[in-house]
Amino acid sequence: MTTRETLAQQLTRARERTLRLVDFDDAELHRQYSPLMSPLVWDLAHIGQQEELWLLRGGDPDRPGMLAPDVDRLYDAFVHSRSSRVDLPLLPPTDARSYCATVRSRALDALDALDADDSAFNFGLIVSHENQHDETMLQALNLRSGPPLLDGGSALPPGRPGLAGTSVLIPGGPFVLGVDELAEPHSLDNERPAHEVDVASFRIGRVPVTNAEWREFIDDGGYRQSRWWSERGWAHRQEAGLTAPEFWGPDGTRTRFGHIETVPADEPVQHVTFFEAEAYAAWAGARLPTEIEWEKACAWDPAAGVRRRFPWGTSEPTEALANLGGEARRPAPVGAYPAGASAYGVEQMLGDVWEWTTSPLRPWPGFTPMVYDRYTEPFFDGDYRVLRGGSWAVSADILRPSFRNWDHPIRRQIFSGVRLAWDA
Ligand SMILES: [Fe+2]
Repeated sequence: MTTRETLAQQLTRARERTLRLVDFDDAELHRQYSPLMSPLVWDLAHIGQQEELWLLRGGDPDRPGMLAPDVDRLYDAFVHSRSSRVDLPLLPPTDARSYCATVRSRALDALDALDADDSAFNFGLIVSHENQHDETMLQALNLRSGPPLLDGGSALPPGRPGLAGTSVLIPGGPFVLGVDELAEPHSLDNERPAHEVDVASFRIGRVPVTNAEWREFIDDGGYRQSRWWSERGWAHRQEAGLTAPEFWGPDGTRTRFGHIETVPADEPVQHVTFFEAEAYAAWAGARLPTEIEWEKACAWDPAAGVRRRFPWGTSEPTEALANLGGEARRPAPVGAYPAGASAYGVEQMLGDVWEWTTSPLRPWPGFTPMVYDRYTEPFFDGDYRVLRGGSWAVSADILRPSFRNWDHPIRRQIFSGVRLAWDA
């Protein structure tokens, strides 16, 4: 398949997914489920607006587009905070849908018209952008109160016992961090360039921390003892009244997309802040990995001395290798993907839960902003921690071991979890 055909398929897949997530009545789409999230109808039109901007308007907001300038500006994420978007005169859902459809049809024409040596980077960027908003919309839907709109999700493979709490040694030595355009043409600016980094020996969890392990932390008073927490973390724990992961009830249940269910013991814990992850790690006699350690454990093949495209090798992700794509609507039990293990034998690094690392978001040496120069650069030096590996809600079309995500250390409506590390 040509790059153009692949991109056209990916655009179509992303759109089918988006439309399933907004297949609700107008009142529902205008609701704001939480001040942390936009109403779904904002995400919908913003997806179209960014696609028009980057694929049809050359990235120039002053170049006239299909929307009136004052309407176009409603969808600039840097102008309107998420909490304020519900009060904007947003396009009604019918208009938003037809705007997105018109943009898409012209974008596919533009893709078709590309010459073989034209860069298709912007098309990959838009595939990534739309899929990332689909994950954001799933976060919003998970925060929604009331009877469920979505079912509990598709079936997942069973886990394997005995893996929780075990670790793998990653021997010290250099590896190649990050990727280049040649190997990964659709990698984003913050993943580049590839460069050699020396990493001291460390151990890393074979699988993410489970709900059962987190329950022990709670039962042992982990949320009541400041000694496990950083100063900032403890202040936040008190101010926010944290006593368990978000969406956990007091009786061993949790709410997930409106469904109340028993917390599954062997599933990776989800919906914890960086501060909780840090406290858990301290209680467990461990620490969180740096993002560099994480990427080495995920992508490096020490025998061959090269990076693998995916933890398991070069083949594209499948349902047997990782929990991706959003249909499961939850992480898979630990041990569900033995075939997805990295060269070091670390499992479930892609999919399931985003894994908090200790690393603030910083550029790799030689960083060059991409065409969408506000994607990463404005966030360097902010109060963010990097998360790695993607969640069950991430599309397999956009995820790589080098993919970097970041958020404030107090956020937990995201599909965030924990993998431990230890000095060796
Ligand atoms: Fe966006």
